[in-house]
Amino acid sequence: MKILVTGGAGFIGVNFVYYMLEKYADYDIVCLDALTYAGNLKSLDGAMDNPKFTFVKGSISDKDFVDKLFEKEKFDIVVNFAAESHVDRSIENPFIFLETNIMGTACLLEASKKYGVSRYHQVSTDEVYGDLPLDRPDLFFTEETPIHTSSPYSSSKASADLLCLAFNRTYGLPVTISRCSNNYGPYQFPEKLIPLMIVRAQENQSLPVYGEGLNVRDWLYVEDHCKAIDMIIHNGRVGEVYNVGGHNEKQNIEVVRTLLKALGKSESLITYVKDRAGHDLRYAIDPTKISTELGWLPETKFEDGMERTIRWYLDNKQWTDDIKSGEYAEYSRRVYGD
Ligand code: NAD
Ligand code: TYD
Repeated sequence: MKILVTGGAGFIGVNFVYYMLEKYADYDIVCLDALTYAGNLKSLDGAMDNPKFTFVKGSISDKDFVDKLFEKEKFDIVVNFAAESHVDRSIENPFIFLETNIMGTACLLEASKKYGVSRYHQVSTDEVYGDLPLDRPDLFFTEETPIHTSSPYSSSKASADLLCLAFNRTYGLPVTISRCSNNYGPYQFPEKLIPLMIVRAQENQSLPVYGEGLNVRDWLYVEDHCKAIDMIIHNGRVGEVYNVGGHNEKQNIEVVRTLLKALGKSESLITYVKDRAGHDLRYAIDPTKISTELGWLPETKFEDGMERTIRWYLDNKQWTDDIKSGEYAEYSRRVYGD
């Protein structure tokens, strides 16, 4: 079995690469990544010497390059993680999101069709459903919830999902899609809420909480997401969408307070800043379909996942120190002013 993992130098992709290499010693894993600001080859250090692992640098939007790679490697399965993934950056400049997330997906779908892969899996997001009101805790996203996007990021991911379904319906490409809630864990780029707050708190920098910090996200430990994708690519039904989430809703301010407590830092670091434009209020997944059809259940409790995550960032300070130079420093100054 040969699997193409795109975006495998990013947060979830790298966790998936390690998960698959460990679980399936006989699978060949090829990682295709453009190494954008969010991709980090150092994160893959632990895989580079594995004879079953190959890294290829390139863009999923480079149609000829993707075609040649598929022709050479004859993949059985494609799992597409590669994306521009940060909502705030999509608000600053949507165009690279359209290029990578939509055109890149189109290039992968086209090559998957041409070279007859047995499964194309699209890693999508619950953000394609838009948001839920804060005062209706009884409402959840199901696979039937209409697509109703808020940000350029979520719009580009929704467009990619629709393309995937079209390739299934029109060309019979064996496609599956997973729509997961917010992930946390090791190797997440420190522009996203949890690693951003850990890294800034360690430096005693202000912790920028958008609005009043009351927006709700449904947090899932990254390994549980990897398990879900593993189950879907092996046993999921072709043409289907699977929501992935663990009924673990938290207000942003709760998450930040939990982190400060664990790090032994003062809540005086919290700074309420201008709200994100179009800020989605609440995400909450109903995972009934994947649980009943495939037996998936989240295994990591939030307290344990957070402890593991914080420990990882404390033990891997060099990883974040390396990131904090260059583009990240510039982004950080632009967005947070320091
Ligand atoms: P990330 O930003 O950490 O990593 C993205 C990776 O894609 C990077 O390694 C980057 O170099 C690579 N990449 C970007 N453009 C590329 C291109 N043109 N060609 C090849 N590689 C390219 O993202 P992540 O958080 O790991 O998310 C992975 C996927 O999961 C994304 O598709 C995202 O939409 C989805 N997702 C993320 C979350 C989350 O909480 N992080 C939740 C649900 C779904
Ligand atoms: P983020 O990690 O960017 O994920 P997403 O927007 O895709 O859910 O943000 C998670 C939540 O945290 C979201 O409601 C926005 C909020 N947030 C802050 O309050 N401050 C910040 O600096 C960031 C990056 C996010």
